Amino acid sequence: MNPRILALLLLALLLPLATRAAEDLVVADFEGGSYGQWQAIGDAFGTAPAPGPLPGQMPVDGFKGKGLVNSFNTGDDATGSLTSPPFRIQRKYLAFLIGGGRNESKLTLQLLVDGQPVRSATGPNSQSGGSESLSQESWDVSEFDGRMATLRIVDDAQGGWGHLNVDHIVQTDRKPAGPRKDVTRTLKARRPYLQIPIRNGAPKRVLTLFIDGQKIVRNDVELAPGTPDWWAVMDISPWKGKELVLQVDTLPVDSQGLDLIYESSVPADQGSLYKEPLRGQIHFSPKRGWNNDPNGMVYYNGEYHLFFQHNPYGWGWGNMHWGHAVSRDLVHWRELGDVLLPDDLGPMFSGSAVVDWKNTSGLGKEGRPPMVLIYTAAGNPTVQCIATSTDGRTFTKYPGNPVLKQITGGNRDPKVMWHEPTQRWVMVLYVELPNRGHTVHFFTSPNLKDWTLASITDGLPKSNYLFECPDFFELPVDGTSDQRCWVLLGANSEYAIGTFDGTRFTLEQSRLPGHRGQGFYAPQTFSDIQASDGRRIQIGWFQTETKGMSFNQSMTVPIELRLASTASGPRMTFTPVHELERLRAKTVQADGRTLHAGDPNPFAKVRGDALELRADFEPGSAREVVLRVRGATVVYDVAKEEIVVDGHKAPAPLRDGRQSITLYADRTGLEVFASGGLTYVPKPFQPRAEDQSVEVDVKGGSAAFQTLRAYPLRSIWKGTR
Ligand code: FRU
Repeated sequence: MNPRILALLLLALLLPLATRAAEDLVVADFEGGSYGQWQAIGDAFGTAPAPGPLPGQMPVDGFKGKGLVNSFNTGDDATGSLTSPPFRIQRKYLAFLIGGGRNESKLTLQLLVDGQPVRSATGPNSQSGGSESLSQESWDVSEFDGRMATLRIVDDAQGGWGHLNVDHIVQTDRKPAGPRKDVTRTLKARRPYLQIPIRNGAPKRVLTLFIDGQKIVRNDVELAPGTPDWWAVMDISPWKGKELVLQVDTLPVDSQGLDLIYESSVPADQGSLYKEPLRGQIHFSPKRGWNNDPNGMVYYNGEYHLFFQHNPYGWGWGNMHWGHAVSRDLVHWRELGDVLLPDDLGPMFSGSAVVDWKNTSGLGKEGRPPMVLIYTAAGNPTVQCIATSTDGRTFTKYPGNPVLKQITGGNRDPKVMWHEPTQRWVMVLYVELPNRGHTVHFFTSPNLKDWTLASITDGLPKSNYLFECPDFFELPVDGTSDQRCWVLLGANSEYAIGTFDGTRFTLEQSRLPGHRGQGFYAPQTFSDIQASDGRRIQIGWFQTETKGMSFNQSMTVPIELRLASTASGPRMTFTPVHELERLRAKTVQADGRTLHAGDPNPFAKVRGDALELRADFEPGSAREVVLRVRGATVVYDVAKEEIVVDGHKAPAPLRDGRQSITLYADRTGLEVFASGGLTYVPKPFQPRAEDQSVEVDVKGGSAAFQTLRAYPLRSIWKGTR
C-alpha cells in the first residue's frame, strides 16, 4: 500500500481515540449502605447515606440510585461534616448533584487542594417553601490536574433549610448540562390571565413575578417540564399593559416550563370547569388547586363570604393564599379571585373576618363599615396582620402590619369577635409556649390595630387539644337565652364550655368530643351572625382527596351549632342548615312505614348523584337499620346505640327512644347526622360513578319510621362559572 495512504488511514483510525474523552470516574455515588472511607463528624449526616427523605422531611428527588448524602439526619438543627478520602484530580470537571438549604458559609460542598478550599457550592433554598430537589452542578477543575484533593460537605446551619443534600460526584471531561439559574421571560400583560403549566409531583420551582422591578409574588410551583396535568391560572388583570417579568430559580435545560406559560382571555379549562368527574356536587371546592381551612367567614352587604387556605399553583398544600367565594344562600358559591397573596411577611395562613360596624379601626369609607380580615403571615417571625375592604371585592393590606408581633414561633390563626358588654374586640390566638404546651391566648383591642394580652387558657387537660384554629363564641342552651355558655373550640373540633368576662375564659367542662368521623379539620363559624337569624353556622375543611383532578379537597356543608342539655351537661349539636333543602330535586317518601326484615326497598326507584336521606325511627325489635347510599353502608346498631358509617364507628344514643338520621352523600364524601345532632360523622368516600342507588333495610325484626325520605339533590354548581 502507498505509505501516504497507509499513514492517512492510521491517522483516521487513531484520531477519534485521541480526541475521545476519557471515561468518567465516579468519586462517590453513596450507594451500598455505608459512607465507605468518607468520615462523618457530628449528627447531621448520620452514619450512612440516606435512602431518600428522612423523617419529617419533604419528598426528596433528583438524586441518583438508592442513596444520597442528606444532612437532615434528626432534623434541621443537627450539624456536622462529611469528608472524603484523598483522590487525584484527573479530569477537567468535577460534577455533582446538590440540593437543600442555601448558605454560602454554613452549608457547603467544598473542594480542598493542599488543605485549602478552592471551590465551594451550596443548595438553592433560602426561604420557607422551595423544594428538596437536587440539581446538576459542576466545577471546572482543570487547573488542579494531577493534584491530590479532598471533598468536604459541611452543615453548620440550624433552623429552616439547615441542611444540604449531595449525590453522585463524578470526574468527567464533558461538562454536564446543569440547569439554568434565575431564568427570566418578559411578557406584556394584554389579557386577564396567565396560564401556568402544572405537573403534579414535578420538582418545585420558585416562580417569581416582577413588575417595574418590584417583586409582586413568589410561588413554589410544580412546573411541568412539558405537557401539563392542568393549567393554573394567575389573574394578571390588575397589571394590564405592564411588562411582567417571570423568573424561575432553576430550570433544567430540557424544561419547556417557562416557555409554555401563556396569556389567555378565558381560563384554559373553562369548558370543563365544575363538570369534572370528582367535583363534589353539594360541597364547595376551589376551581383549581388545593384548599384547606375555611377562613374569614363573615356576612357582609348581603353576602356570605367564605375565604379559604388556597394553593392556586399546586394540587397539594403550599403557597398559602386566601381564596375567596361568596354566596347569598350559604349553598351556591361563586369563587372570585384570591385576595391575600404571599408577601415579604410570609405565606398567608388562617384567620378570620369581622364587620367593623362602628368603624373603630377608622378603615371604613364614606360611611361604609369596613370588612376586616385578620390573618397570620407565616414568615419568620410569624405575625398577625389585617386587611380591609369596603366593597367585599377588593382588599388592601393595612400599611401598619403586623398588628401583633410574634409571641412564639408558629403562633397563628387569629379568630376575632366583637364583645358587646366590654365594647371591645377579642382575639383568640393559638400559641405554643415552651413550658405550657398548646395554649389559646386572649387579646383585646379597641380598634383591631392595637392588641393587648388579656389572658391565657388555664386549667386545660395535660394533653392539650386546643391546637390550631381556635374558635370562640357564646350559645344559648336549648335555644333559650337565660342559660348561655361560651364555647372554645380547637381545630380537631374538640371543645370546652365555660364562662367569659371579656378577658378570661373560665372552664366548666373541657375536652368534649366534637365531630365523630374522619377527614374533618379546622372548622370556623361565621361572625356577624345577625344575618343568619342568630344562628351559629360552621363550615369545616373536608379532606376529600380528588386524585387526577386539577383541584383537591373541599368544605363540609354549612352546619348550625347549638347547645342541647344532656344528662352530663350542655353538649354541642350539629344540624345541616335548612338552606340545603333548596337543593332537593325530588322527594320520595315512605313516612309512617314499619319496615320488617326482608321487606322490599322503598327507594328501589331512587337514583341520585348527590343525595339527602332522612330517617326518624323507633327501632322496635330491629337489630340493625341499614341505609345504603351509592354503595356506602350506614348501619345503626340498635343494641350498641352506635352508628357505623362506611366502616367507621361512632356512638349514637337514642333520644326518647328514637333515632334520627340525616345523611348527605356526594361524589367525594358522606356527612351523617344522628342523635338529634349530638353525633356528626363526616367521612370522605368515593362512590363508583355508576352506583346512584339508595336502599333501606331492617335486620332482625322491624322498625317504625315516622319519617323516611330520600331526596336526589341538584348540583350547587349549576350555571356557575
Ligand atoms: C390548619 C393549619 C393552620 C394554618 C394553616 C396553614 O390546617 O395548619 O394552623 O394557619 O393550616 O395552611
